[in-house]
Amino acid sequence: MHPDIFNRRRRGLMQLMGDGIAIIPTNNAMHRNGDVQFRFRPDSDFYYLTQFAEPEAVAVLIPNREEGEFILFCRNRDPRREQWEGRRAGLENALELYGADQAYEIEQLETILPKLLVNQNKVYTCTGRHPDFDQQLFGWINDIKAKVRSGVHAPMEFSDLTYILHELRLFKKSEELRVMRRAARLSAAGHRRAMQVCRPQMYEYEIQAALEMTFMQGGSHYPAYPSIVAAGENACILHYTENQSLCQDGDLLLIDAGAELECYASDITRTFPINGKYSPEQRDLYELVLAAQAAAIENVRSGKAWRAYHQAAVKVLVQGMLDLGLLKGSLEELIDKEEYKRFYMHGTGHWLGMDVHDVGEYKVEDAWRVLEPGMVLTVEPGIYITPSDDVDPRWHNIGIRIEDDVVVGKDEPEILTRDIPVDPDEIEAIMADARP
Ligand code: GLY
Ligand code: MN
Ligand code: MN
Repeated sequence: MHPDIFNRRRRGLMQLMGDGIAIIPTNNAMHRNGDVQFRFRPDSDFYYLTQFAEPEAVAVLIPNREEGEFILFCRNRDPRREQWEGRRAGLENALELYGADQAYEIEQLETILPKLLVNQNKVYTCTGRHPDFDQQLFGWINDIKAKVRSGVHAPMEFSDLTYILHELRLFKKSEELRVMRRAARLSAAGHRRAMQVCRPQMYEYEIQAALEMTFMQGGSHYPAYPSIVAAGENACILHYTENQSLCQDGDLLLIDAGAELECYASDITRTFPINGKYSPEQRDLYELVLAAQAAAIENVRSGKAWRAYHQAAVKVLVQGMLDLGLLKGSLEELIDKEEYKRFYMHGTGHWLGMDVHDVGEYKVEDAWRVLEPGMVLTVEPGIYITPSDDVDPRWHNIGIRIEDDVVVGKDEPEILTRDIPVDPDEIEAIMADARP
């Protein structure tokens, strides 16, 4: 994305702040084992405002400050360290490439940030996300309080920056949707590859490798979340990520995986037959989940309440469970008493954006939020039947989820992820074409 976009975001946020000081640290590098670190991923709020992808950095925004409104603390250049650890932008680039008005070495944070806090009334932070940093910050504020006799005053008001910042992040602008469309297309290509390479007696991780190779070949540094590649009964574990089992002939494979591009997530689930052909029971349940998804997507419309699409999915699923003999009773009662949760125990979606479970309130003053154009969400109904469920054993160990990413439009919803089909005949055709 062009640096101007990040400048515009900072300006927008500062306008909403009015005055005061906002302090946004990025994530710390995370130790993995021995001398090894986890691959670094910047904090989404920090990156949203700065485009700066290095650890050990803090952004400070002070609207209307004469010496400059955007101050970036970061690591300075250090040729010897860079030879071991990788390149750094340094202070000069913080100004030139990242648009900071002033840049300081991160080591100077302790001396300069307290000075910036002096005589500010209001401090905006994302309290709770970086507890060590919060503690440091309150230490500096206490130090200022101890100096009141010298004529300075310490901030009086603390405000959670996330309320205004996450409201901005919830509504995706056209440049964000462009990146999300690319992430969705790339993820769909990965799922297609997985369908093409899948054969009975392969291990789940072999299919994960094909899927993630496609993501990486398309420029994704890492998946948006750990890929779920779950064969047979493993599909009934909602966040299964071991991916170590054999794919057995006759079972289904559920893959929930998405690529991340420029810190934007994609989140797709497809469930397909390992041998290329759905069994009658698998197809019955698959078509039920698909019908629930279609009913849900119909309700992803501007003006509808957030909860409406979940309710639409549940209604179709419960009616289908009744028709197939999985549940007994009346539709209304089963829904009221949530009896369906035995087979469908999660919600039908979540906001999607820089975080896979993206930021933004779901309720406003106790009422479900109303959908508006520019919001992006997932639609992911499912059905999961384990041997502990007292139903005909022919349904056992079937776990199915179908998940797509959808933009709320002015009129029709835009489904970002249909480069990989959901129709069972089309999925079988993709698999058949890949089997000479
Ligand atoms: N991949 C996590 C989710 O679907 O919510
Ligand atoms: Mn999801
Ligand atoms: Mn998912």
